[in-house]
Amino acid sequence: MVTVGLFDSGFGGLTVVREVKRQLPGANVEFYGDNGRAPYGPLSKETIVGYARQILDFLAGKKVDIVIIACNTATVASWEEVKDQYPFPVLGVIKPGVRAALAATRNKKIGVIATNFTIESEAHKSGIQAIDPKAEVIGLACPKLVLLVESGKTSGPEVEEAVSCYLKTFKSTGIDTLVLGCTHYPVLTDIIRRYLDPDVVIVDPAVETVTEIKKLIAKKGLVVDCAYPVYNFYTSGDPELFVKVGSMILGWPIDKVEKVVLDA
Ligand code: DGL
Repeated sequence: MVTVGLFDSGFGGLTVVREVKRQLPGANVEFYGDNGRAPYGPLSKETIVGYARQILDFLAGKKVDIVIIACNTATVASWEEVKDQYPFPVLGVIKPGVRAALAATRNKKIGVIATNFTIESEAHKSGIQAIDPKAEVIGLACPKLVLLVESGKTSGPEVEEAVSCYLKTFKSTGIDTLVLGCTHYPVLTDIIRRYLDPDVVIVDPAVETVTEIKKLIAKKGLVVDCAYPVYNFYTSGDPELFVKVGSMILGWPIDKVEKVVLDA
């Protein structure tokens, strides 16, 4: 039996939960969405590290075997600080995103969309160029997309306009790959697709992230074998909104969400 813990500033991490279900259907899941304190993008590193520690302590109490920081911003801000401080492995989503981008690109011109925090850190750029110095990386912060998804707006004119306005930046840059460097963005993949040249490959780092934990689970000799896996959801925000938006993102109904506020 394996329990995977995941957390995010909000709904974005559910795009990683749905990938866990796809690749590890026999795993239990404990998910904490910090919707009450989202977005993380505008916060300081110190604040995000503090939040990450609180949530990891909470997940530790749920007897998780492994945790995915299902948030690029929190990975950039806190992974180095927290990765060795728990009795279970803690993985982030940046390195898998970097690997997936390099595997996808043909012309080595890669776009990255993410929060201001992630873009300013240049985490993807430095990760990609550490492996392939010739790769060109163009980053763009798209903070409005997080706000739209957090408020449950995942389609319609306001979303189309925001996506089209942001993605204009990539016109005539020649990128052939776009990394969704914020876990909220895969919710909008169909819309993002419409505003990119058709040959641009969209990379959702969740796929490579879960592939990585799958390998780690096998290496540790753990068996993912629950016939009826349990999915527990916790939010610091509005549980009703979480049920509504969360079920839509996951593609299956969430029946119960517990409100858990971790403020000291
Ligand atoms: N989903 C998050 C990420 O991957 C953060 C969004 C936010 O809270 O600003 O970066």
